[in-house]
Amino acid sequence: MTPIKECLINNKTNLNPIWLMRQAGRYLPEFREIRKNNTNFIDLCLNSNLSEEITIQPIDRFDFDAAIIFSDILMIPYGLGQQVEFKKDFGPSLGKINAAKILETEENIFTDKLSSIYKLLQNLSKNNKLENKDLIGFVGAPWTLLVYMINRVSPKNGLSENFFSDKNLISDLLKILDRFIKVHIRNQVKAGATLIQIFDSWAGLITKDFDKYLYNPTASLVNYTKEIGVPVICFPRGISNYAEYCKIVNPDMINIDYNINPKELIKNIQIPVQGGLDPKVLLTDKDNLRKQVTNYLEIFKSHPYVFNLGHGILPQTKIEMVAELVKIVREYK
Ligand code: CP3
Repeated sequence: MTPIKECLINNKTNLNPIWLMRQAGRYLPEFREIRKNNTNFIDLCLNSNLSEEITIQPIDRFDFDAAIIFSDILMIPYGLGQQVEFKKDFGPSLGKINAAKILETEENIFTDKLSSIYKLLQNLSKNNKLENKDLIGFVGAPWTLLVYMINRVSPKNGLSENFFSDKNLISDLLKILDRFIKVHIRNQVKAGATLIQIFDSWAGLITKDFDKYLYNPTASLVNYTKEIGVPVICFPRGISNYAEYCKIVNPDMINIDYNINPKELIKNIQIPVQGGLDPKVLLTDKDNLRKQVTNYLEIFKSHPYVFNLGHGILPQTKIEMVAELVKIVREYK
């Protein structure tokens, strides 16, 4: 069994497996080299050969315990026929929503559009560099995808004023998202994903109707993933009540963000925990890194724990700091 599964399924402690959110990409010079010649990000995600190479890059360098496929949460809106573009120094930009067209999407068309992602997973499951490692497939949570689909750009500066104005659109999209996120999970699992992570990067923007936007839609996906026999990790970034979230949504493992006090949290939850370290710590120095990393490892000495960050690794992170991080985690006793 892989170290992450030992932790997740058998509740083993002290194994300290490690992988990093957004490990495939941006901070790696070998990724930037590929990216330079592939200016269309969606096309790059749909190129299963290059995506395989990018997925393996961090494994070659750091021997992480899991590979996360090189893809994006916005491949679902793309599969549903919404235009999705990634603009340099700006981030994602989505086209105007055509609700009628989205509602008519057929499953086989969606699966066809994303077939190279499934091909990527099939190829990776045969890659001997991933022996005894997990292969992580992922999806965006319904709320976070709804945010991108309606807001059409990153909500860094808040949601657009009329975000909630079309109630019918919201409820139609939530239904469609539930259906097609499940299709995407099922296809990834069939193609060889051994774990699924649900990214709810903008969960912290929810201030009302938690059942409608956060708990019910995520629990539906968690139950579905469990039913098809694969463990599921949730990352509801920025929420204030992780204990309540774990109680209601009940994933196999919870990824915490860096605003959570881990010591307090484990008094109130039983499930395995992943992550937490502020990715900015990787921008400081090795002494501080050791101090902060050891702090997490000490706290989780007798709680099943997978080392990871409290959000994606930052583009300006130095390779040698990542190498040092892995060394600290692996040598910790
Ligand atoms: O290493 C990995 O985790 C593999 C793949 C991965 C990417 N995006 C590749 C990517 C994963 C798991 C994601 C998830 C994702 N995408 C999230 C959830 C996690 C989080 O960070 O909150 C979100 C919100 C997105 C949407 C998205 N994609 C944004 C906002 C951006 C632009 C800014 C950024 O993060 O770089 C992207 C582009 C993107 N996705 C890049 C990569 C490697 C950068 C592309 C580039 O080179 O310009």
